Amino acid sequence: MKDTIQSTDIQSQIIVAFNFRHACKIFDADAKIPEDQFATILEAARLSPTSFGHEPFKILMIQSQEKRELFRDFAWGANGMMSGTTGQLGTASHFGILLAQTSALQTAGSDYLQNFYRHVKQLPEDIIELFNGAYGKFQASDHHVTTDREITDWSGKQAYIVLANMMTAGALMGIDSCPIEGFEMDKTIATLEEHFGIDPSLYKPAAMFAFGYRAGAPMFDKSRRTMEDTVAWF
Ligand SMILES: Cc1cc2nc3c(=O)[nH]c(=O)nc-3n(C[C@H](O)[C@H](O)[C@H](O)COP(=O)(O)O)c2cc1C
Repeated sequence: MKDTIQSTDIQSQIIVAFNFRHACKIFDADAKIPEDQFATILEAARLSPTSFGHEPFKILMIQSQEKRELFRDFAWGANGMMSGTTGQLGTASHFGILLAQTSALQTAGSDYLQNFYRHVKQLPEDIIELFNGAYGKFQASDHHVTTDREITDWSGKQAYIVLANMMTAGALMGIDSCPIEGFEMDKTIATLEEHFGIDPSLYKPAAMFAFGYRAGAPMFDKSRRTMEDTVAWF
């Protein structure tokens, strides 16, 4: 496509946004993201692509500080232990957890998927049969995704696409974010079950995330491998 003023403008906006985004450790606790802007971030999440279109994730928003504190002891990537602050848990305007669906929901032929194909995708029965066959083959022999762990991890991969899109959408609006994997899995699962009613046989945490506005300059300069090192062309 020919370079137009408009596309050059969008290209530069994209690169500015990707340089703006950094893993924000401390947010300005008084700065709240306007509701409509966070709604746009959630819409970017909802519209994200997923393998087979299965949307095998759920987003849990945790806005009450009391509830956030339930994770403080073991969410070491969000509790400020490295910055001597209350961390993303204490300062983010919006904090949440992306949950990944387990094998109970995402095994080919599951009741959940039949309902999903019928009621969300509105597929006719013969196409549902095709989906069951194709997804069954994908799990059994194409990608060897058959155990509960493998299927939950596959759901988690889709959740990470969602997370990336949320962060990019935020960055384009000048909103900061942090993806968070720094938490103890077993304690997080137990907390989600006890305090949020999340059934671990259906959902496991994939990643946490925080959104808000940076309290100060990023702690680290952005560093990346070179393009030559990152991409191989054939
Ligand atoms: C999946 C994932 C999990 C991460 N977990 C944490 C975390 O728990 N706490 C944190 O402060 N940063 C976390 N990070 C941020 C990374 O350390 C950061 O993205 C990386 O060092 C590159 O820096 P930049 O994002 O500022 O460019 C995570 C990033 C990703 C993608």
